[in-house]
Amino acid sequence: MPHSHDQSEVEEEQLHFSNVITTFQNYAQYSLSANNRRRKDFYTLPKPDQDLLSSLGYKAKLDQVDAAIAANADFLSEVVSDPEIFGHDLSSVTEDEPSAESHSPMNDSPMDHSHERVSSGHSHSHGHSHAHSHDGAPRIRRRYKPTDFDMDKLRSTLKQFVRDWSVEGREERDACYKPMKDALLLHFAGIPATERGRVRVLVPGAGLGRLAHDVAGLGFTCQGNEFSHYMLLSSHLILNRTDKISAYTIYPYVHSFSNAASDEAMLRPVTIPDVLPSGLPDGVDFSLVAGDFEEIFGADGNEPQAGQWDAVLTCFFIDTAKNIVNYLRIIHQILAPGGVWVNMGPLLWHWENNTTNDPSIELSLEEVKNLARAIGFRISNERTIDTTYTSNAQGMLGYVYHAAFWTATKI
Ligand SMILES: C[S@@+](CC[C@H](N)C(=O)[O-])C[C@H]1O[C@@H](n2cnc3c(N)ncnc32)[C@H](O)[C@@H]1O
Repeated sequence: MPHSHDQSEVEEEQLHFSNVITTFQNYAQYSLSANNRRRKDFYTLPKPDQDLLSSLGYKAKLDQVDAAIAANADFLSEVVSDPEIFGHDLSSVTEDEPSAESHSPMNDSPMDHSHERVSSGHSHSHGHSHAHSHDGAPRIRRRYKPTDFDMDKLRSTLKQFVRDWSVEGREERDACYKPMKDALLLHFAGIPATERGRVRVLVPGAGLGRLAHDVAGLGFTCQGNEFSHYMLLSSHLILNRTDKISAYTIYPYVHSFSNAASDEAMLRPVTIPDVLPSGLPDGVDFSLVAGDFEEIFGADGNEPQAGQWDAVLTCFFIDTAKNIVNYLRIIHQILAPGGVWVNMGPLLWHWENNTTNDPSIELSLEEVKNLARAIGFRISNERTIDTTYTSNAQGMLGYVYHAAFWTATKI
């Protein structure tokens, strides 16, 4: 990250990263135990009811869900098998009892909560096992216990893979990413395809990177920006460590039995990726920068970014702002004169009702557009696009966003 952080910020970041890794590692145990609750409930029923349900295949389905969770766990452990690339020394935060054995999460029986074993399965380049407290004494940090909230994020990450990197996600991508790419192509229609590399496009809140990847695929120079460790670890696997189409099979819909139209719909496998990121044409400039959008691109001490971007594409991103004024001001500032900002998404203000006392400014769509005009944008090409977001296409429940779309030019 281009900014210098003080020591406590670095430590906090490192701890958070380590907790995310632990969440990935605990996925199997957590999810199997949730499924085992169903099994236990089944056995509380009168025998005739059990027999009836078994004849419908209910019990067999629970076993199939266990197998699907096992497959997901294999995939997720692949995602975190190379955490050192993020430059964090995990040695001080992923180990505690020195005798802890390395194990695959799959070894944990769903019934077995008695001994939460510690995985030291991810070897680290700096192999010291304990941190030191301020007085210099070795400090044994307890292994983090992921919360329901952490696990929810991890399950969402699996669905995000469907959105960005599966055949099934194509419909959502066509609704969200295609109009953005079309607007970009239209704005730079005067530039021959062979010279698009001169046009620098930024995609803040890039998620798993598909939009940024596809923009680079059109020949533009493109950088994604993302700060979630879940997303960064996951996109790293697909973008840098995958060399086969359909290399992985995941089961993103096995975690809830609610609103399942059929067993097949719930248990269906999804293969990823649908394209090979390494297949981008030679010479294409495509990168991802890790860190907070406001810190990296904000004005404070970072004037070199001013006027450096020809386009900024925000997809389901602007509502992640605590202070939307700052987001729009930064977008305006980093754009070159005549540069274009293409936006697509709802206004699901992420910090509304936060419990951490963070400030949150929540404007209506009309206010956001007026703010954009006041900051110096001319808005055109406005429309509403109905779209889902990481929705289970075969479920009985689906949210549809009436997402706002516009192209805005810096005046
Ligand atoms: C709703 S998701 C959209 C992801 C992607 N654009 C898509 O359409 O699939 C919002 C993304 O923005 C990221 N994000 C939120 N605040 C951010 C910030 N301040 N800096 C960088 N990324 C941020 C989140 O981690 C998340 O991946």
